[in-house]
Amino acid sequence: MRLTVIGTGYLGATHAAAMAELGFQVLGVDVDPTKIERLQQGDLPFHEPGLPDLLRKHTSSGRLRFTTSFEEAGAFGDVHFIAVGTPQRSGEHGADMTYVDAAVTELARAIRKDSLIVGKSTVPVGTARRLQALVAEEAAPGLSVDLAWNPEFLREGYAVEDTLHPDRLVVGVDSFKAESVLREVYAYALDRGTPFISTDFETSELVKVAANAFLATKISFINAFSEVTEVVGGDIRTLADAIGYDARIGRRFLNAGVGFGGGCLPKDIRALQARVSELGLDRTMSFLNEIDEVNLRRRDRTVYLVEEMFGSLDNVRVAVLGTAFKPNSDDVRDSPALDIAARLFSAGAEVAVYDPEANQNSAKRFPRLTYCSSLVEAVTEAEVVLVLTEWDEFKRLTPESISDLVSGKRIIDGRNILSADRWQDAGWMFRGLGRRVEVEAPILSA
Ligand code: UDX
Repeated sequence: MRLTVIGTGYLGATHAAAMAELGFQVLGVDVDPTKIERLQQGDLPFHEPGLPDLLRKHTSSGRLRFTTSFEEAGAFGDVHFIAVGTPQRSGEHGADMTYVDAAVTELARAIRKDSLIVGKSTVPVGTARRLQALVAEEAAPGLSVDLAWNPEFLREGYAVEDTLHPDRLVVGVDSFKAESVLREVYAYALDRGTPFISTDFETSELVKVAANAFLATKISFINAFSEVTEVVGGDIRTLADAIGYDARIGRRFLNAGVGFGGGCLPKDIRALQARVSELGLDRTMSFLNEIDEVNLRRRDRTVYLVEEMFGSLDNVRVAVLGTAFKPNSDDVRDSPALDIAARLFSAGAEVAVYDPEANQNSAKRFPRLTYCSSLVEAVTEAEVVLVLTEWDEFKRLTPESISDLVSGKRIIDGRNILSADRWQDAGWMFRGLGRRVEVEAPILSA
């Protein structure tokens, strides 16, 4: 069985390399020739732990190739995975389906043998059924071209592990044949006992957005309690630990801080609301609006904590540690950390930024921040240090290591990873999101 993967971003490149690892002949397809050129050389254009090795291994073994040609893909593949992006539409909440529609149309026209198209992108419910009709229209007469939906749950930073060892496989199918092809593709996981959920198109599409909406809700739930502990006193981490011991709740995704970002959670909860409204269910997902708002308020709060320290942000030297939306990633899409850095800059601060992997992507979005090549460089002469992404390097940060470098001993822990006592004992003013609020008066700038 030969596979193609259309779209070679975080999802597609990982899926392509993982499928090659499992022994399939794989052709990766993208409309961006520069990206394809790099991938063909075994050079991954983004940061994802473990993926560069897998990519090089299989571009060398010959099991994994890349092309920009849909003609080549259509002649090559028995199974075609669609892994292109569905970003938020500009100025709206709904998902932009341009890339999915274009990929499926071009592919269907280029297909030269009986085959199965498998959508992996996150899409509004109803998309698979619409695309099934589109494929029937566009594919050459006489060919049997089937469609299935197979949402992907991989997390950036763990993409290889999640793809090779998924915790469940969900397939939306409309024929026994499609299901049996997918069982063959995923035989390795099925042999290991991975739950395989075969369902209709609509359920499979909804599973994905339901999972992400639930995760977003969990994060905003604990962040809403942060707002309370900040006012009444209390410690959000202890609260999360305590409720997390209840197995019905669970501790994961209860880390309070600057909130969720990335290419999935924020846009998926917005697209879900938009889709459900289109279906006439205006109120059904309106709680997601609150989830979004709680999330965005964490960014306001972080900016406020700095304002509270200085009164005015004019020319205040701020060090921002971390701009990626989460550690082990160079992704800055909808990153709370980068948003906060940019807002501090807009309010007049001088912002020195350091992220172990995301400086380059951040600079493309906000070229006017000062990008530093090390933590030491970023904090030197800073009047306040903000830790906004929980990279291991920042978790290990100690007051002793930077006290002599900064010009003001003030730190804001946006991810609840530092010990307040330790920093305060070393003479630092410490602020955390959801942590006990200090009673001392704000320090006004001279
Ligand atoms: C998410 C889903 O987890 C994944 O299943 C789906 O396929 C794609 O979307 P990802 O975007 O890679 O994955 O990141 P995730 O690990 O879910 O984190 C999302 C955001 O939530 C990050 O900004 C992270 O910092 C934040 N987060 C996560 C918290 O603020 N607190 C937590 O407790 C967990």
